[in-house]
Amino acid sequence: MTTNPAGRDVSAVIDVTKPSVARVYDLALGGKDNYESDRVVYRQIMEILPEVPEWAKENRRWLQRAVGWMAREQRIDQYLDLGAGLPTAQNTHQIAQSENPAARVVYVDNDPSVIAHGRALLMDNERTDFAAADFTRPAEVLADPAVKETLDFSRPVGLIQALVLHHISDLDEVVAYQAEYLDRLPSGSCVAISHACNPRDGSEAATLAATFEEKFQPHFPSLRFRTPAEIATLFGDLELVDPGLVRLFDWHGPGIEVDDTPADHYRDAASRFLVCGVARKP
Ligand SMILES: C[S@@+](CC[C@H](N)C(=O)[O-])C[C@H]1O[C@@H](n2cnc3c(N)ncnc32)[C@H](O)[C@@H]1O
Repeated sequence: MTTNPAGRDVSAVIDVTKPSVARVYDLALGGKDNYESDRVVYRQIMEILPEVPEWAKENRRWLQRAVGWMAREQRIDQYLDLGAGLPTAQNTHQIAQSENPAARVVYVDNDPSVIAHGRALLMDNERTDFAAADFTRPAEVLADPAVKETLDFSRPVGLIQALVLHHISDLDEVVAYQAEYLDRLPSGSCVAISHACNPRDGSEAATLAATFEEKFQPHFPSLRFRTPAEIATLFGDLELVDPGLVRLFDWHGPGIEVDDTPADHYRDAASRFLVCGVARKP
């Protein structure tokens, strides 16, 4: 029997024979909510990109900096985190609430493991809620009771899309539903995106990204690495704040000097594997 943190039997809803993106990613972060089907995929990925655990952690460190900046510098006190993943250390609500204890967060995910295990863990405080929904359906997400009751769309909102948009294969489709989210955001809102990148420039980074994507295909056919230009379209016509669309460890927020590059030990090709940016709605 598989039980969730509230002690409920969730064996019926979680198919342990099929790998889950949420669980494979959680494995890279050192989490325990995974099964042999997830570990098989993870081992294959590690053969071509042994830096994967470092990258998963780097993404979480970027999330921390991006949400910290929005909360501190932009005074944003409400967040919609799409494709939240399994709860780990320093989730969006912990980051935002460490800046402002009144901050509110709604997490959205459609993976049965995240729904079963995550809801209980994430609902550890009254200003955090969870919507079991498909983020490619903005109308449904925005009409979800958790979203409607927790967030006030007449004030700035932080929209978080960390390592999620590359799970939708059709770029036009992503751009279309992004437009619906961006349209609904009031002035002063911010959008934070991290995304798998293939520069498609014949470089070693491009070869590595293509190999990774190919290895993932049989398990997660909708995964798409995109060029920086394609990823930039996901912000619609919003302007990126400095330093723009960059490697994860290069984003520290506008005007923040970085004296050392924590990623000196990464292979150059692997360092271009994930990019991120934050845009603000004027
Ligand atoms: C790689 S994890 C990223 C987790 C987290 N955002 C982070 O950066 O640490 C991708 C997450 O997106 C979720 N996801 C993928 N497609 C989704 C969809 N259409 N609707 C809702 N969640 C989705 C997966 O279930 C998974 O939890």
